[in-house]
Amino acid sequence: MAMLATVWIVLLAVNIQAGDGQSVQMDSIKSGFVGSQVELRCIFVNSNPPVKISQVTWQKFLNGTKQNVAIANPSLGVSVLPPFKERVTFKQAAVRHRTPSLEDTTIMFSNLRLSDEAAYICEYTTFPAGNRENMVNLTVFARPLTRMTLTTPTIVARPQKRKMTVATCLSANGKPQSVIKWDTRLKGEATFQETQNANGTVTVRSNYVVVPSRETHKQKLTCIVTYRNERITDSVVLNVQYEPEVKIEGFDGNWYLNRQDVSLTCNTDANPPVTVYQWKLLNGSLPSTVEIRNNSLIFKGAVTYELAGTYVCDATNGIGTRTGLVEVNITEFPNNPPPGGREIPQEQHNAGAVIGGAVGGVVLLAAAATLLFVFLRRRQRTFKGDYSTKKQVFGNGYSKAGGLPAHPPIPNNLQYPDDSDDEKKPAQIAVTGGFEASERDFDRDAEDLKRPYFTVDEGESQDYDERTLAFQYNPGPDVADDMVSQTDGSVISKKEWYV
Ligand SMILES: *[C@@H]1O[C@H](CO)[C@@H](O)[C@H](O)[C@H]1NC(C)=O
Ligand SMILES: *[C@@H]1O[C@H](CO)[C@@H](O)[C@H](O)[C@H]1NC(C)=O
Ligand SMILES: *[C@@H]1O[C@H](CO)[C@@H](O)[C@H](O)[C@H]1NC(C)=O
Ligand SMILES: *[C@@H]1O[C@H](CO)[C@@H](O)[C@H](O)[C@H]1NC(C)=O
Ligand SMILES: *[C@@H]1O[C@H](CO)[C@@H](O)[C@H](O)[C@H]1NC(C)=O
Ligand SMILES: *[C@@H]1O[C@H](CO)[C@@H](O)[C@H](O)[C@H]1NC(C)=O
Repeated sequence: MAMLATVWIVLLAVNIQAGDGQSVQMDSIKSGFVGSQVELRCIFVNSNPPVKISQVTWQKFLNGTKQNVAIANPSLGVSVLPPFKERVTFKQAAVRHRTPSLEDTTIMFSNLRLSDEAAYICEYTTFPAGNRENMVNLTVFARPLTRMTLTTPTIVARPQKRKMTVATCLSANGKPQSVIKWDTRLKGEATFQETQNANGTVTVRSNYVVVPSRETHKQKLTCIVTYRNERITDSVVLNVQYEPEVKIEGFDGNWYLNRQDVSLTCNTDANPPVTVYQWKLLNGSLPSTVEIRNNSLIFKGAVTYELAGTYVCDATNGIGTRTGLVEVNITEFPNNPPPGGREIPQEQHNAGAVIGGAVGGVVLLAAAATLLFVFLRRRQRTFKGDYSTKKQVFGNGYSKAGGLPAHPPIPNNLQYPDDSDDEKKPAQIAVTGGFEASERDFDRDAEDLKRPYFTVDEGESQDYDERTLAFQYNPGPDVADDMVSQTDGSVISKKEWYV
């Protein structure tokens, strides 16, 4: 964008030069902060044939009206007009010389004010070419005053949880206006408000609202103000005062007769800290054996039934008083295994069982592994032997698989789907998906590579398969039992025979 603008200006300048020979060169925009100084450049390009400069006039152009700022005249000298007299000077001393050079009439504008924001025209009156002028737009920025304040140094958390502003972030009289954001883990909300000032500045204010509580104490709250490309951050840590949070500790539900050295402690979380603890026993007075030590009740000597009751601790700080209570009951005998009694042996016993179990497991595992290994070795050999058989079987069709000698390898590896029990065919899933396909499509080397995996699978499923097979197959002897030989050499079922 800036590039484009520059190119356009250059083109414009060239055009003017080409047409008329002379031009006024200025920056198109300039900016400065209130109180600072800016340089407004104005250079007259006097090309051949040179023209005579009769006067140079700087003007402020605002709201459609022009106001003279400074004039340089070759014969009359230099004049800076009243509202600018103290703050505007020509940069080049040569402008003020008796025989001045007016080619560079750049001005220095110091101690900028917001009201200086305007367009400034630098106009050359020449002879015989006439007037040439250009313009610079001056923007004046005002740095805002940014600060964050806590509403009060200490916030009091009231029981009737009411929202309140805990901190305010302010960015005052900025131009351009700032943006306020908050960064915190507090659960609260921010309100935003902006005020436009007559001088063009904007004041932005944000309040952070929370319900003060114990949880908000010591929470950090950061205000992030973004002004132009600057980030200004400020943090506060909340100091929230709250009533004591009371908890009585020391009663473990196991105060039995003659137990020694029991005590109750009134533990509190409070800001400011608790100054007064008061112990009471509901519907009675504290036992005579009790000693109050700061926030503790020390029961001297052995536990008696007399100690039973509801103990109350009133804790007071600057904010209020809160009460904690505990109901103490006394039993004749310990109701739990006392610590250090049976518990430790039990643990040891458990540990023993674990160790024993682990050792047993390892031994069992080792035995199983040995068996498996022996078995695998045998199977491997068996399998290799059967491998070609299987190939033949494959070629002849599966209907013959059932008629193979005992211990057929295929059924061992392949499962029977429920619906093919009658035919005793190997499952199609296993056959087509895996083994059969590879047998058809790959050479022997590929098969050999696959075999070890196959063998392991076989070994793993051995037990199950053997049992299943034994049951399903009803080999030799059963035929003799259930079937009856016929004179023609065939056999028929006994059932059929007797029907
Ligand atoms: C500029 O003009 C507007 C109305 O056209 C007027 O409200 C405003 O006050 C003028 N500003 C100055 C600085 O004269
Ligand atoms: C400069 O200001 C004038 C009038 O205020 C405006 O018309 C012009 O577009 C501005 N030029 C630039 C480059 O901002
Ligand atoms: C702008 O106006 C505000 C409000 O009147 C004032 O507080 C502030 O100082 C002014 N800023 C400048 C730079 O004059
Ligand atoms: C005694 O107090 C414990 C803990 O408060 C409670 O679990 C138990 O039921 C009480 N026993 C009797 C007899 O009140
Ligand atoms: C304790 O005393 C109050 C009245 O002071 C009574 O209402 C309450 O039932 C009493 N509780 C016991 C356990 O005696
Ligand atoms: C308890 O009180 C004694 C004085 O009675 C004081 O010296 C001691 O520091 C206190 N201890 C605690 C933990 O507040």
